[in-house]
Amino acid sequence: MAHATNWIEIDPTALQHNARTLQAYIGDGRTLWAVVKADAYGHGAVNAVHTLLQAGVRHFVVASLNEAIDLREAIREPSFRVMTLYPPTTPEEWRTAAEYGVESVIDSPAGYQQACEIARVRERSLPVHLELDTGMSRLGLTPEQLGSFLQAFRPDAPLEWRSVFTHFACADSDPEFTREQLRLFLQSVAYLRGEGFPETPLHAAASAALLTLSETLLDAVRCGLLLYGIAPAGLETHPLCQSLKPVLRWRTRVLSVRTIPKGQGVSYGARFRAKRPTRVATLGVGYADGYSIGLTNRAPVALKGKLVPQIGRVCMDMIMVDATDLPDVQVGDVATLIGRDGDAEVRVETLARLLSTTPHEITTRLGKRARGRI
Ligand SMILES: Cc1ncc(COP(=O)(O)O)c(C=O)c1O
Repeated sequence: MAHATNWIEIDPTALQHNARTLQAYIGDGRTLWAVVKADAYGHGAVNAVHTLLQAGVRHFVVASLNEAIDLREAIREPSFRVMTLYPPTTPEEWRTAAEYGVESVIDSPAGYQQACEIARVRERSLPVHLELDTGMSRLGLTPEQLGSFLQAFRPDAPLEWRSVFTHFACADSDPEFTREQLRLFLQSVAYLRGEGFPETPLHAAASAALLTLSETLLDAVRCGLLLYGIAPAGLETHPLCQSLKPVLRWRTRVLSVRTIPKGQGVSYGARFRAKRPTRVATLGVGYADGYSIGLTNRAPVALKGKLVPQIGRVCMDMIMVDATDLPDVQVGDVATLIGRDGDAEVRVETLARLLSTTPHEITTRLGKRARGRI
């Protein structure tokens, strides 16, 4: 970290606390699948998996085969299980998934055929999950495809069905639609089972549904955001969110300090003009690091235990803050872009609200310069 101008600090005990709190909330009879795609939402997937394994989590979810392979190569724990959300789309991808013991999603009749063929050639059973599309319109068998899937379905095919699942589209905003998705999911599962499809664990809820609709908890939940101690949009006051701890802190250093006269502009386009003589502190972070230009003149930054306003357009590698009320601020002081500094805290949820985006986007966009330097 010697020369880092901005960096991420991870609190593994907070991650473990969140995993245990979530497991207690959903109950021992249900499995917590930890969603660690996109480098564990910017938190660092390999370390996150090691930390979560120590807290008793065994099931992990990533998006791509490459992410799964990276984890498989780094994690030697035999009980570690990983599934990809992208369905393999070629026989080559199926072969690779099988070789690495990655659990794959079947989301179409064609995917089912490919999986059966690869398992037959390998003479080994393949671990797979069936995804049903109940209204997300992204991946999964549509209700119309169930018939053709069942026509092709062979109960004796060498596939090991690990689960059937769906994904909610509006769990943070539309409980009626979410209930309708759940109803359709359970109805489709009943239909599949009636036609000879095996009984498997069922899952549907991610963080938002876990908080808003307890009937969606089923046998397992796939949880990302809450594990990292971040609340889905609009659900910040839920008691469960209050009991979780933010895992990530994003920090930077003061590179330079100057006092400018009343009326002088700051940064490109002079989009901030000093209304008084202003002490400007320049920090070593910018949009190339994931600090969005959209935060220009809007975001709080924690410095010396106080919140100060970001001022002037966010640059590629630097931002400025108004440190007039912190007369002793100096080059080298540490500022906090996300996380707590004494009594001052900048929440991911606040930055997401300012940018009209999801909290997921904030941490997954943290840049290369900040990562790998924990
Ligand atoms: C299919 C699926 N399940 C679960 C999750 C986890 O969602 P969250 O981070 O809101 O818990 C995601 C996240 O994008 C997802 O795509």
